[in-house]
Amino acid sequence: MAAEPLNWKKSAEGMPYLDEDPGEPDGAGGRETHPRMGVAPIESAILSSLAIRRRVVEIGTGLGISTRALASVAEAVYTVDPDPWVYQGRIGAELMRDHPNIVCVPHTKQIPKDYRWDLVFIDGLHTREAVRQDAAFAVSRLEPGGILLFHDTNWPGVHEGLRDFFAQEPLAFMARFPTPGQLGLVFMLGCR
Ligand SMILES: C[S@@+](CC[C@H](N)C(=O)[O-])C[C@H]1O[C@@H](n2cnc3c(N)ncnc32)[C@H](O)[C@@H]1O
Repeated sequence: MAAEPLNWKKSAEGMPYLDEDPGEPDGAGGRETHPRMGVAPIESAILSSLAIRRRVVEIGTGLGISTRALASVAEAVYTVDPDPWVYQGRIGAELMRDHPNIVCVPHTKQIPKDYRWDLVFIDGLHTREAVRQDAAFAVSRLEPGGILLFHDTNWPGVHEGLRDFFAQEPLAFMARFPTPGQLGLVFMLGCR
């Protein structure tokens, strides 16, 4: 029997969300009381135009909106989300059914050690420490010429985590798109 269609809604800024969402993990063992938001349509379009034939890692699968945009053009996408509602539930199952180049995992440790990437999209936990760690992981196996993208760069935790990252990586630069989630495109000058 076919599954019931998901009950998609849109925020005033066009960001998709689901009423049935239990709320994303808050990083302290609980859950947020509001549903998580997917990226806005303009952000999906930017991600698709940057991911063509790239090997991608995504931190924060969420509703899989950005994952689908990346996977529609990428060579391969590993997408990470510790929430069982995402990686063990319908979101993860439907992503991997629709896009055979997607692998959903709950932790970066599940990404094979020999996989190197040339694009990372970070939209996971929005705390300073998580963003700092995600950025450090993102550059650890980034191919020369690779890029990082951050969502919600205007959120306080993301902003602070990025500031820590740029203090460690003086040759990293960010251009910000004026999108609802202030998508940030980071590129590194020279070879690391
Ligand atoms: C805003 S949602 C991502 C939305 C997604 N970009 C989309 O377009 O559908 C953030 C996600 O990050 C996940 N998350 C929380 N902590 C994380 C962590 N430590 N690593 C990776 N993802 C995490 C949450 O479970 C949540 O699903």
